[in-house]
Amino acid sequence: MAREAASPAGIPEHRRAAGIYLHLPFCRSRCSYCTFVVSTDLSLSQRVFAALEREVERLARPAGRVVSTVYLGGGTPSLVAAEALHGLFAALRRSLRWPSAAEVTLEANPDDVTEGRLELWKTLGVTRLSIGVQAFQDRVLKVLNRRHSAAVARRAARLALDAGFVVSLDLMLGLPTMTRSDLAATLSQALDLRPHHVSVYLLEMDKPHRLARLAARRRDLFPDDDAAAAQYLTAGRALVAAGYRHYEISNFALPGFAARHNLRYWLRRPVLAAGVGAHGQAGRRRWANVADLRAYVEAIEGGGSPRAWSRTLSTEEESKEGVMLGLRLARGVDRGAIAKCAALAPEFAARLEDFEMLGLARRAAGRLRLTPQGWLVSNELFAALW
Ligand SMILES: C[S@@+](CC[C@H](N)C(=O)[O-])C[C@H]1O[C@@H](n2cnc3c(N)ncnc32)[C@H](O)[C@@H]1O
Ligand code: SF4
Repeated sequence: MAREAASPAGIPEHRRAAGIYLHLPFCRSRCSYCTFVVSTDLSLSQRVFAALEREVERLARPAGRVVSTVYLGGGTPSLVAAEALHGLFAALRRSLRWPSAAEVTLEANPDDVTEGRLELWKTLGVTRLSIGVQAFQDRVLKVLNRRHSAAVARRAARLALDAGFVVSLDLMLGLPTMTRSDLAATLSQALDLRPHHVSVYLLEMDKPHRLARLAARRRDLFPDDDAAAAQYLTAGRALVAAGYRHYEISNFALPGFAARHNLRYWLRRPVLAAGVGAHGQAGRRRWANVADLRAYVEAIEGGGSPRAWSRTLSTEEESKEGVMLGLRLARGVDRGAIAKCAALAPEFAARLEDFEMLGLARRAAGRLRLTPQGWLVSNELFAALW
């Protein structure tokens, strides 16, 4: 049997508090930029939720596992009916120990946020809502095939804040037809709401979604790379000026409100994972479930494993991963870790020097950090490492 990975404090991985991610894969319709594992066919939903409950119970072994973050992502968790959510939370609470200070996040689409649902989520123990706003222009939302208007998104955020949830808003940049004044209006409306947390994602165009196909025909509708980069820097400056900390490439938080569950991935802390396509990690181990909904359900119903793959990182992969994830964070990476990676990949050391010379990276107090300009082109640096 493989030796348990131990934390610096010598605590075996399975004894440390973990996070748990649950993938709830159903959506009412597919947005035109989305490549997540989602299904708009609800016919399997009962079997999927029963399978999820069984998987959560299995994950609890060894018994008494403590989780300090729970994340219900999707798909559209806010779409899930009360009965199924009660079942899932009951399975979670039967299986895992769960302190009252745990961060419990649910991803919500604005059109699902009602006073009744907020009350249900509160009762279940949800503490944080991550709301997909994307933009505050109806014209842009239409191109994205979102089901909600800007007014509905504003109302959803207000209701969630008034109900006492920690609220995070997702915004997207680089979107077709989005002008500079659209971005300015989106930022000022987001800031007026004063959410605790804001995620700002540049539209990823290297994925097979409808907007990527549209761009192949109508590139003129999209901002070019320089304009998209300018949008990212503009958004960052506005959020930082309003008191948000830019703590990760795409994430901004008021002091004390960084996303604790998401930090687990960047700091490589243990995350259990349940659901179709879900990815987990513990120590050097990484694994993922099958990404096909029927295969997932049938594996669990047949008493088998839904795992698609599972592997253990080599020492070299572990150190490279640590640097790449660390450089996503404002706190950066310590000198020793950088030196180790530079020895493994000379190209990385050369790129790093270029980055420092160009003001894209900075060394201070024994740590290396990328600047926001550096984050924008970090793929080039990471490519030299991997
Ligand atoms: C799991 S998804 C969305 C959850 C929820 N169903 C929703 O739509 O609000 C989380 C966020 O990722 C971002 N996102 C999704 N696809 C993207 C893409 N192709 N490029 C950039 N950001 C993307 C969106 O901002 C989205 O709100
Ligand atoms: S609602 Fe969210 S998860 Fe579903 S298709 Fe749209 S972006 Fe993807």
